[in-house]
Amino acid sequence: MAKKRKGDDDPGVLRIGNKTISLDGYLCKKTKTDTSSSAPNNEDPNHQQSTLVPLPHSLNSIPRGEGEGSARSAHSRPPAGDPQYFSARQALPLWTRQDDIRRILRQKDVLILVGETGSGKSTQVPQFLYQERWCQKRRVKVKAGEGVQEVSVGGMIAITQPRRVAATTLAHRVSREAGTPLDGQKEGESSNGRVSKGLVGYSVRFDHRVPPGTRIKFLTEGMLLQELLRDPHLRQYSAIIVDEIHERSVDVDLLSGFLKQIISGNKAGRGGIPLKVVIMSATANVESIKRFFSETKPENPAPAPTSETSVESLQVEGRQFPVDIVHTPKPVPDIQETLLKTIFKLHTEEALSDRHGRKDILAFLTGQEEIESAQRLIEEYASTLDPKLPKIKVFPLFGQLSIEAQHEAFQPVKGSFTRKVVLATNIAETSVTVPGVRYVIDCGKSKVKQFRPRLGMESLLAKPISQSSAVQRAGRAGREGPGKCFRLYTKETYETLPKTDLPEILRTDILSAILTMKAKGIDDVLSFPLMDPPEVESVEKALLHLHILGALGDDGSITETGRKMVAFPVTPPYARVLLAAADHKYDCLLEAIDIISCITAGEDIFLQLRSEETKEEVEEYRKELSRREGDLLTYLTTMQLYAAENADRVQWCKNRKINIRNMKQAWNIRKQLRGLCVRQGMMEQPLPDPQPFMPTSPDQAAVILKCFLKGFALKTAMLAPDNSYVTSHGKHIVAIHPSSVLHGQKKEAIMFLEHVYTQKNYAKKIRSVSSSTGGISESVPTQAPTRILLPTLRDSSCQISIYQTWDYLGFYWKSAPSLSHHETIPPSLGLGHVHNKGPDTRPNGAPPTDLPLSASPPGPQETPRSRRATAGR
Ligand SMILES: Nc1ncnc2c1ncn2[C@@H]1O[C@H](COP(=O)(O)OP(=O)(O)OP(=O)(O)O)[C@@H](O)[C@H]1O
Ligand SMILES: [Mg+2]
Repeated sequence: MAKKRKGDDDPGVLRIGNKTISLDGYLCKKTKTDTSSSAPNNEDPNHQQSTLVPLPHSLNSIPRGEGEGSARSAHSRPPAGDPQYFSARQALPLWTRQDDIRRILRQKDVLILVGETGSGKSTQVPQFLYQERWCQKRRVKVKAGEGVQEVSVGGMIAITQPRRVAATTLAHRVSREAGTPLDGQKEGESSNGRVSKGLVGYSVRFDHRVPPGTRIKFLTEGMLLQELLRDPHLRQYSAIIVDEIHERSVDVDLLSGFLKQIISGNKAGRGGIPLKVVIMSATANVESIKRFFSETKPENPAPAPTSETSVESLQVEGRQFPVDIVHTPKPVPDIQETLLKTIFKLHTEEALSDRHGRKDILAFLTGQEEIESAQRLIEEYASTLDPKLPKIKVFPLFGQLSIEAQHEAFQPVKGSFTRKVVLATNIAETSVTVPGVRYVIDCGKSKVKQFRPRLGMESLLAKPISQSSAVQRAGRAGREGPGKCFRLYTKETYETLPKTDLPEILRTDILSAILTMKAKGIDDVLSFPLMDPPEVESVEKALLHLHILGALGDDGSITETGRKMVAFPVTPPYARVLLAAADHKYDCLLEAIDIISCITAGEDIFLQLRSEETKEEVEEYRKELSRREGDLLTYLTTMQLYAAENADRVQWCKNRKINIRNMKQAWNIRKQLRGLCVRQGMMEQPLPDPQPFMPTSPDQAAVILKCFLKGFALKTAMLAPDNSYVTSHGKHIVAIHPSSVLHGQKKEAIMFLEHVYTQKNYAKKIRSVSSSTGGISESVPTQAPTRILLPTLRDSSCQISIYQTWDYLGFYWKSAPSLSHHETIPPSLGLGHVHNKGPDTRPNGAPPTDLPLSASPPGPQETPRSRRATAGR
């Protein structure tokens, strides 16, 4: 606990722990303690530069005059909904353009709407549209097998959000504006009697609130994709609003592809009723989206000419309140230090509120660890402040928090003499309004997951954000009154930032995306319309990986196993493990769920032990959790003991230095996965907790390992003679991460569930594999797949060559030519069939020649590497 030390009375210095931060030029001698209204201080800190938020780049917009007459008539009408929000809604820039929006959608199928942050897109557009005639539910006849069936089409509007917190908070806000309860419990209508009960709902992973009569449904992109699997024509909906498209997650790209197919198809599945699509963002590249939705490939390539979908764009200028942007004059040497200075400067100099309301702070940091460390420092220093100053209450906000914990940052702070400081990752970057926030501090970086297909490895590094992100972050200020955004980087740095982020599909492992496409019946994945198709090589690798997981058959079509895998809200390898664990041969589903829950819960359930003192303190406690086989069984033991604890689980976590939040999240995932497995008929309802703890026997541990190898056989590494670990796929050197219980140990071979590049190439979440365990040979095809997946590719030049196949399964043969690892590879790992073929006379790195090929594969130099899948662009 850092307190002011004796004799350290210099008010110009901030001491936290062993860190000394000079507040020179930041703190005024006299601090304001007045909490009453005061105008915001628009003067910049003495040495900082100030500019106004730039407008998004221009686009083809509808001339403002057009349709204004009708707009006037519309916005002179009182809005439907709760009157206490009328004046705020009518002041939004989008309000005066509502008739333009309605008119365009009466005529066109697709509207691309760009309006500045806070202009009212997410909250108002669905409310402008749900009473349109085209938005009513209708009964239509559709073909069903040989016959005809009557079904309902339309009636609802879906609005997708990249994140759960945005979907849920927006649903709450819009339901309040509409004057209808979100839970659908309360009877009665709103004061003007126009809206039916339960107009608004939401659906996010593990949380659904869709009251009867819902017309406006907020949901995450992932949830809408799940709905698409059940209802490929989206018959419930009259319109889909794709919000914040600039984020370009894999899910939104897939969604856009499916929507394009629906709107450009023959609509027979919807009884001929069109689906309207609205694409929204403050920072989207309109031209490329417009091109994507306008160009439609004919379904039958021969006679039909390319058709055009009717697409219109509209730009709405202006924002409700200005946001002042302040850049630092020089690059800052220590972001955390500058962040703390800025927070305390604002806190001590600025009033707590003004006539617009509260003046809270939202700061963007890179990740959970940085947030928790900044929270500690802020709380420590705040406790030493003059008691006459307002208090500070810090709220962390990051993806791994439970949705309830995330919502705390959105609640009004308790205590009138307290300032709210929200420390967030980029989950608060777009879409959300954090009530009270008038100051944003932007550190200029975010952690980005980047998959390197060649290495088969993911890296998670803090990287500079894009200009689009910077504009979005600034947009979180100035929503309830004039705001200020402090960028902890120079104006010149801002100018050099990339305009937009690379779409996730181009930087991630696309396994789930490909499996979803297959489940949707898209055989020719390379022709699926994507705004930015990934490299052919990544797609091919994903296809092969899915084949190895058993999700795709030899002909490339989805298998029964693959279909079951899609239903799980975890990545395909984990879904494969769950399916294997449910098999009576293994019968360890509860154990697999416990392990997967811990692993997918957050950064880590175990807090890092920084000092020797803490290590000693928890050693005894952690000993009972730790298993010599590795991290997987350690997680299992931890979850089992946590579940068996019936006194005080919070104290139990504290004693063992377990992150309580992450543990609760793991507990929640465990509950959801158990429920899902019961519903899927994979197991009986488990006995209620707490159950007595029974340590896992070595035999059972071996069985669990075999299940995990079903999903992670390719994530294995052998100990090489020089004591490094060499991955079976790709032959890369990896080190065991310091967070692993196996750190510093030598094992014959290891399986690892995560592969991360930070300072070094690390394997994480590790389980030792010994020659007595076996399992890898059972988990991958023993023969190189020959012509698998070929029917999935239309273009014969895209055929996956046997070379690539074997390259992918590199450990089958890459080790053979040199035989350098021969001695270290236990025969039971399934590599014997390569070595047993007798002396290898092939040139180093050449593929085996005795493969059951029906046609000669192209030579390695002809293999189609690094090509983009251009079909469907
Ligand atoms: N939860 C909320 N609490 C208070 N005010 C809110 C809330 N949600 C929205 N508002 C108000 O409604 C305005 C419009 O919000 P909305 O989310 O519709 O804007 P937007 O155009 O979608 O912005 P962005 O591009 O940042 O997503 C906000 O600026 C704010 O004044
Ligand atoms: Mg929005």
